Parts: sequence; C-alpha cells; structure tokens
Amino acid sequence: MNTEISSPNGINKIEFGLSKNGSPFYLVKHKGNTIIDTSFMSFDFRNLPSLKYNLEITDVRLNSLDENWEMPWGEQRIVKNNYHEMLVSLRENSPKARKVNIRFKAYDDGIGFRYEFPKQRATDTLIITDENTEFKLTGDHMCWWIPGDWDIYEHLYNSTKISEIDALALKEHVNLAQTFIPENAVNTPITMRTENGLHLSFHEANLTDYAGMTLKVDTKTLKFTSELVGSDRTGYKVKRALPFTTPWRTIQIADKATELIDSKLIVNLNEPNKLGDISWFKPMKYMGIWWEMHIDVASWDYGMEQNENGKWVDTGKAHGRHGATTENAKKYIDFASENNIKGLLIEGWNTGWERWTGFADREGIFDFVTPYPDYDLEEVVNYAKEKGVDIIMHHETSAAPRTYEKQLDTAYKLMHDLGIHAVKTGYVGKIIPKGEYHHGQWMVNHYRKVLETAAKYEVAVDAHEPIKATGIRRTYPNAVSREGLRGQEFNAWSQDGGNPPEHLPIVAFTRMLAGPIDFTPGVFDISLPTKENNQVNTTLAQQLALYVIIYSPIQMACDLPDNYEGQPAFQFVKDVGVDWEQTQVLNGEVGDYVTIEREEKNTENWFIGGITDENSREINLDFGFLTDGKTYDAIIYRDAKDANFKTNPTAIDIEKMEITNSTKLNIVLAEGGGFAISLTLRK
Ligand code: NOJ
Ligand code: CA
Repeated sequence: MNTEISSPNGINKIEFGLSKNGSPFYLVKHKGNTIIDTSFMSFDFRNLPSLKYNLEITDVRLNSLDENWEMPWGEQRIVKNNYHEMLVSLRENSPKARKVNIRFKAYDDGIGFRYEFPKQRATDTLIITDENTEFKLTGDHMCWWIPGDWDIYEHLYNSTKISEIDALALKEHVNLAQTFIPENAVNTPITMRTENGLHLSFHEANLTDYAGMTLKVDTKTLKFTSELVGSDRTGYKVKRALPFTTPWRTIQIADKATELIDSKLIVNLNEPNKLGDISWFKPMKYMGIWWEMHIDVASWDYGMEQNENGKWVDTGKAHGRHGATTENAKKYIDFASENNIKGLLIEGWNTGWERWTGFADREGIFDFVTPYPDYDLEEVVNYAKEKGVDIIMHHETSAAPRTYEKQLDTAYKLMHDLGIHAVKTGYVGKIIPKGEYHHGQWMVNHYRKVLETAAKYEVAVDAHEPIKATGIRRTYPNAVSREGLRGQEFNAWSQDGGNPPEHLPIVAFTRMLAGPIDFTPGVFDISLPTKENNQVNTTLAQQLALYVIIYSPIQMACDLPDNYEGQPAFQFVKDVGVDWEQTQVLNGEVGDYVTIEREEKNTENWFIGGITDENSREINLDFGFLTDGKTYDAIIYRDAKDANFKTNPTAIDIEKMEITNSTKLNIVLAEGGGFAISLTLRK
C-alpha cells in the first residue's frame, strides 16, 4: 500500500510506515531532504496496555482540497487552504483489536497530523497517561524556545542549539505568580533554523478537549517527544469518550524566515466558523485604565474590607489611588473619542482587588457585577456610547475558574444588557483547585466554555494568562486576541530589566505564528519616570512599528492620555489600521529584525512597520507592491540620527512625502529602533 503523500507543489512529503514489530512511524522530507527522520508514535493509558506495537494497516485513503475561505477579521481577507491528505487506519493484531487512525495533511507551507480514535469494542473511554509523538530532527539546529511551563508562557525566549536546551535551569522565576516546569521540555511554537537556512516551527492546531502539548527534549539524540500537560489531581493527562480526535501536531516549513509569518497552516487546520455573522465585534484600537496601575500611578483596589460573610464593605479606608473611577473613565473616554480610538478597557472596576493575588484561597473573592463605590458602571457605559467609544469589560478571575464559571451567565448577561461586546479575562496565580495547571485538559475546557458562553452573549474575548492560540479563532471568531507571552507590562515592573530589544524580533517568528497577540504597544513615555529601575527597551519609532508588526484585531494604545497629548508621533496611532485586506512580510530574520506591510481593509491604505534588535541596521524599501498609477500621501516616522533605545529613545524624525510604486527609500533603524509609515491613497 502506498503510504506517502506530497504537498500540492510537491515540496513537502510525508512518509508513513510500520516497524517490524508493528510500531507506527513517519518521516518528513522537504525538497527531497529528510527534515524529520524516523519518528515513532504511541500512547500510554491507565488500565490498558500501551498502543505501540503489533499494529497493522487496514486502509489508506487519499483526499485533497483546494479552497479559499474568508476571515471575518484577520491579517488578510482571503485564506487559501490547499492540501493533500492521507488517512491511515490501523488495527492492533491482538484479541482486543484496538483501532486508531492517523490523518496526515501535506501543505506547501508545512504538515500536520492527528490521531483519530474511532468507536471500538475494546473500550468506550480512553484515559491517556502519555502521548508519545516523536519529532526526530536531522541536525543540531538553532532554536528559539521558552520552557515547557505547565502554568505560563510569559518567559523570555532563549536562543540555543537543540543540544543546549536546558529548561530546568529556568525553574526559579521572580516575576511570575505561577510557574511549573517539570522537565527539560519546551513550549510551542518553537522555531528552528537549520544549517542550510531552512526554518521549522513546531506547534499544534485545534487544541480542543485535550491537554496542551509541550515537547520533551533529548539533547543527545536531537529528538523531541510530546509531553502533555498533566494534572496532579487526576494523575492522567487526558480523558475522552470514544470517538474523538486529538489536536493536530504541526510543523511549519519555510525556506525563508519571513514565510513562517505568511503561513496560514494553523488556522487552516481548524474547523470553519461556527458562529456565523459576528459583525457585533469590530476590530479596534483601545485605551485602558491599565498602564497607570502597572507604573504605580494608580491602583486596581480601592481599599475595602471583607466582612465575616465574605461581603466587601467600604469601611472608610479608601486610599484615594483607585484608578477605575467614573471621573477617570470619562477623561479617557473624552481622549479616546477625540483621537479615533474606539475602545476603553477599565481594570479594577469591581470589588475584590484587595485580595486578588498572593492568597491561597481566592475562591469567592471576585464577582463580576459589583462595582467599587466610586465607579458607576452604567453611567460610564452610557457616557462612552454617546462619545462613540465601546467599553471593554474586565474579568480578573485570579485563577479561580470555578468561581468564574458559577457566574459566567450572570456576568455575560450584564455585558449583553449594557451593550458591551468585548471582555479581557485574566488568570493570574496558581489554579484553584490545587493540582490543575493553566495548560491542562481541565483548563483547556474552561477557556473553551468561556468562549462559548461569550459567543452566546455576543462578546469577544481577549484572554490573559490564556491557553495558547491554536487557530481556534477560525471556528470561534470571538476569540479575538490573547496574551500568552511576555507582554509590554514586563517593561513596567519586571525585576530582570524588562524585555530586551531582541524579544519582539523573536516573538514575530515564534508566538505570533500561533495567532493574534494582545501585546499592548504604544508607550510614549519610554523612560518610565515613576519606575526607578525600569524602562522600555525600544525607541519611540519602534513602539509605532509594533502596531503593524504584531497582529491583533484589538490593538491597545497603552500609555496615559497625558503622555500622548501634544505628541506629533501620536498621529500614527490615530491613523493605523487594525483589520487587513492583505499582509506582506518584506524581510526579516528570527531574533534580528522584521519588516511587514499591511493593506487596510476597505480603504486601500497601507501601513508599514519595521523593528530591529539591539543592532542598528539599514532597510531598503521598494514600494513596487503599490498599485500602478496611484499616488499615496505618506508620513514616515523613523529614529532620529542620534536615537538609541537606551540613551535617546524618543528622538524621532517625522516627514511627509508623496509615494508611488516607483519610490525607493533607505531607512536606518537605531539600536532597539524601528520605523512606521502610513500611506494614504490620494483619491
Ligand atoms: C495580568 C495581565 O496580563 C494584565 O494585563 C492585567 O492588568 C493584570 N493581570 C490584572 O488583571
Ligand atoms: Ca500577564
């Protein structure tokens, strides 16, 4: 039986086989070169022998698809989904005759496969204690990785060879309210570059009712093996009734680093939109009563006390630093409305923040309907509406998902009644109940339940401390954005000097391959005067560039209104789009630099952003991609000659010029710098 398939243009090939003792394995070739060598696949179960040996192929079915689908919002409007598929049916040669099918899909930008457990005689439920999917690399590639933490993705990226990966060395962490790294494993996406310049990125797609996958590293044999996130409460990794399918195991394959960002493999491996029309959600820029808390100018809490019955009462001890007041909200709403910013996030509006983190028992601390005494929710929402601004609700669950689930309907109904269509959720701290982790099956299901409830009430979700993005946004387009990386906030308070300049040039080729990022760009007061030991490690021009580089349909202008007032560079934040007709990655290398240009949907305007690491560099821009015969009014924001992220971060040159498709420009990016360009079509 033929058990291999190639991608539509023949560039990527998957070969499947069985060893002499009936163990399934696969290989992946790119342009004829083996990039994944013989890699075995098996499962261990509780109360059942491992599914590993004595398997036979009972059937092989081939299929293919070539379709275009439309994103309701996204990096581009139309996505091409073109693959060749092979479904291999396997049966154990034993009295139990257990069955598993493996579905492989070969795309021109990578491959994916998943396990499908059909209904069968031997059992009706599987309790998986380990999935052992191997990825055997063929060289000691350069890798960009974060540790396989079961509780958080907010780590700095490490750049090492496979043989030098040491996640256990990163176990202790002063900045994280929760972290658990049980072994030498990495989280996904992990991106690699081979000696020949081929780029590979390993991840998963459609993580549904299953545990998140980390990859255990064998530094000697250069082999990665799936290590699912577990639960100390249950002792297993996954429990599922038959039939079910696992998430896709994915490898994006690119001859150039930039093609990784072009790849749509992850969304293509997800199911089509289940929600139908979600026009109640509009991509937008938003501000927040937020950064002022992170830079210690205001606080989330008000200064209340909890009585014996667990009720929060105002005992006259308000400290006067509370950020989420009606008055402050109105100030932000006025500013947003004057500056083409359509959303406002308000954190610290509800009671409970006096005990939100650092407490072992956080159940029942927060509810999601009771405002502090100095915040009039309805008044704020109505005032915002009058001014054309939408309030973004905030739910910090403090990682007590059972408390949150009990209130889901009440909390989301309140939003629906108020006409609020977006919520930012948060999960700071160790999960309650003890023994569960942020990335285990139990929490994967919690995050999905929130998404489904939100959809029911027409609410879009921006999750912080989330489960990783695996392309679910295709199926649930109300999954608009998420954190799941070290965001801007670390620059305000982390005890390790903040995010280094190489952070985002790595993120663009790793975390961003998974999906939209709520990074919260737009700090203008880069030196953070209220924070003695912290500053943002980019230039101002780079902060602008991030609106184009980092993709998210909700994009924050995170600084305080006062810090934007009178700043000519703020014009770019006002102008920049958030929803795109198409995206082109002009150039870039992982960890060094990247330049992206995006065409705004429905306007034919373009926006370009470029960022660099701690090295200054020159970028040559060729505007040949613009429509022939059209003229664009451009504003160019670039690092001034003497700009430098450490010593002179806010030095910026702003210049207006006329641009056509024959224009060429050389732009110098400072150390930790960047540039941004808006191109408005002259009509
Ligand atoms: C952590 C989130 O990442 C941050 O954005 C938020 O302000 C705090 N939690 C409080 O919820
Ligand atoms: Ca966070």
